[in-house]
Amino acid sequence: MSMNSFGHLFRVTTWGESHGPALGATVDGCPPGVTIDEAMLQHWLDRRKPGTSKYTTQRREADAVKILSGTFEGRTTGTPVQLMIENTDQRSKDYGDIMEKFRPGHADITYWQKYGIRDYRGGGRSSARETAARVAAGGLARAALAALAPKLEIRGYMTQIGPYKMDHDRFEDVQIDQNPFFCPDAQAAEDWAGYLDGLRKSGNSVGAVVEVVARNVPAGLGAPVYGKLDTDLAAAMMSINAVKGVEIGEGMNAATLTGEDNADEIFMGNDGQPVYSSNHAGGILGGISTGQDVVVRFAVKPTSSILKTRQTITKSGEAAEIITKGRHDPCVGIRAVPVGEAMMACVILDHILLQRGQIGGAVGETRGKIG
Ligand SMILES: Cc1cc2nc3c(=O)[nH]c(=O)nc-3n(C[C@H](O)[C@H](O)[C@H](O)COP(=O)(O)O)c2cc1C
Repeated sequence: MSMNSFGHLFRVTTWGESHGPALGATVDGCPPGVTIDEAMLQHWLDRRKPGTSKYTTQRREADAVKILSGTFEGRTTGTPVQLMIENTDQRSKDYGDIMEKFRPGHADITYWQKYGIRDYRGGGRSSARETAARVAAGGLARAALAALAPKLEIRGYMTQIGPYKMDHDRFEDVQIDQNPFFCPDAQAAEDWAGYLDGLRKSGNSVGAVVEVVARNVPAGLGAPVYGKLDTDLAAAMMSINAVKGVEIGEGMNAATLTGEDNADEIFMGNDGQPVYSSNHAGGILGGISTGQDVVVRFAVKPTSSILKTRQTITKSGEAAEIITKGRHDPCVGIRAVPVGEAMMACVILDHILLQRGQIGGAVGETRGKIG
């Protein structure tokens, strides 16, 4: 059984718990010759790390990543890359109350039902600290993509927090890194700040919608049946903690459209490549990329650890009340943005490697040639 791994050829296995000494990812199948160092990975980890604003958990983790294997003189060797992040700010006492009680909405009860043993300190393996390892692996995937598909860009951002949506007419790429919400609409970000502050102070939480777009994806990635690009993307996004819904392109809204409206019309471009009138398909047709932007959206539920009294039961089955203290994100959607980007990078790279395996045609080169 391989319940801690994902990917076909670019295979990522994550390990570790929230309150253990360290966690990380073992990446097997990364092509040789990819230029990589710890600073390159740290750049992505810093975007996910806790405590960067009052809207995320106040746990202070440097999330400093170490590369333990798989590189020589700043390039991958083709052997497993071991990435490690030490946990430095564990506070197990915060979790005393949930040692006996199950948090409604969290994974405590199902872990107990399944394994009969549970690391209650921060949720153990069910803690989203695990997502730091994914972001590190995603950093490596991005470095490989820079060599194999140099024009490819991956961008994630929040489009909605609770009931408040951003306005797509105000979309500005440069805004995404200018506010604590990864929001491309400066006005929406300002409005969200006041709303989330109120919720945070009252000890409550809220959900969000995150969109991740990959631009300049080569056409032809994926396969028509069990190897669909959209199947792997949906599974990757759904595997992120707290994600309850995933859409590609028009997603659930496709059910409201007519065939006439939904079909993206095809024309011949000046460069001999097809161009489309629209992108309802989200860049994927029949499981295979069209060459348009690949657009994935996911809904993140509200944080379940809240300072509001909820009814629950204890491990011995007695009725109890619970208030979850400790340091928690009032909206986990914010830090889910870099995680969604990392999953997109891993899946697209995996499909580029599959494409090379079956069809050939590597877009770029990562290693030197003999002769
Ligand atoms: C980046 C990130 C941070 C999270 N932080 C918290 C947190 O501080 N407190 C909490 O209760 N849940 C947090 N979660 C969500 C839980 O990990 C998740 O709800 C839990 O594992 C149960 O899984 P499920 O919601 O997918 O069913 C976070 C999720 C993500 C993606």
